[in-house]
Amino acid sequence: MPRIALVTGGSRGIGAAISRALQEAGCTVAATYAGNDEKAAAFTAETGIKTYKWDVADYDACVAGIARVEEDLGPVDILVNNAGITRDAPFHKMTPQQWKEVMDTNLSGVFNMTHPVWPGMRARKFGRVITISSINGQKGQFAQANYAAAKAGDIGFTKALAQEGARAGITVNVVAPGYINTEMMSTIPDKVMNEVILPQIPVGRLGEAEEIARCVTFLASDEAGFITGSTLTANGGQYLT
Ligand code: CAA
Repeated sequence: MPRIALVTGGSRGIGAAISRALQEAGCTVAATYAGNDEKAAAFTAETGIKTYKWDVADYDACVAGIARVEEDLGPVDILVNNAGITRDAPFHKMTPQQWKEVMDTNLSGVFNMTHPVWPGMRARKFGRVITISSINGQKGQFAQANYAAAKAGDIGFTKALAQEGARAGITVNVVAPGYINTEMMSTIPDKVMNEVILPQIPVGRLGEAEEIARCVTFLASDEAGFITGSTLTANGGQYLT
């Protein structure tokens, strides 16, 4: 798969596993990150994957950043919208700021990244846009009115755009992970994890980032051209759609 792939939030957690897996599949990969320079530099040193710092919530930064990636590596064939944040709070305590931060990154960020690469994909008659949603965008989640709304929005965005991309050879899909063993889980209190979340997962464990990465490399492959507008769910049986 000798394609150019761009992975947002691609130097840590699920994103890092996706970047590595696409590289192993033969892609030239670029990864964006928001803040942690040290981790990004270590990731580049270890993998040779170039990292770029910008905020996906900022449209102009996305336009400028993508232009830099394309200058360095060539046109983006595969976009993986992985960057995401949580600002969990029960709704009666959720602040407008917590709502806005999550919507800006997890939903508008997907628009901001996809919009600049879309004309090039249309012109070249090939593209793969894969967005990492969440089980919690499918089923809702206590203390995540913001996150569930944004992640459900990502699925609607994908279904609409799939219809527009189909004739131009662009597929647009979602991967919806369940609870995956990453740093994001560290914000969940142990008691909630052990007594509420784990008992709901029939396979009896968290998922691994590599298990999500395999879903992405499949959807990114040339051979997956008939799959578009779909949501590939990987959650250990926790929620059946
Ligand atoms: N399900 C059910 N009940 C939950 C819960 C959950 N996931 N999380 C918290 N609660 C309950 C607590 O057990 C507690 O109940 P009790 O009062 O009976 O003990 C109550 O909610 C907490 O209420 P508080 O008003 O004290 O809440 P707080 O202001 O201190 O906020 C919290 C705490 C932020 C909600 C914290 O408990 C938390 O982070 N919970 C986890 C929420 C969660 O599951 N988020 C998913 C993160 S994973 C992810 O986002 C990645 C993905 O895509 C899958």
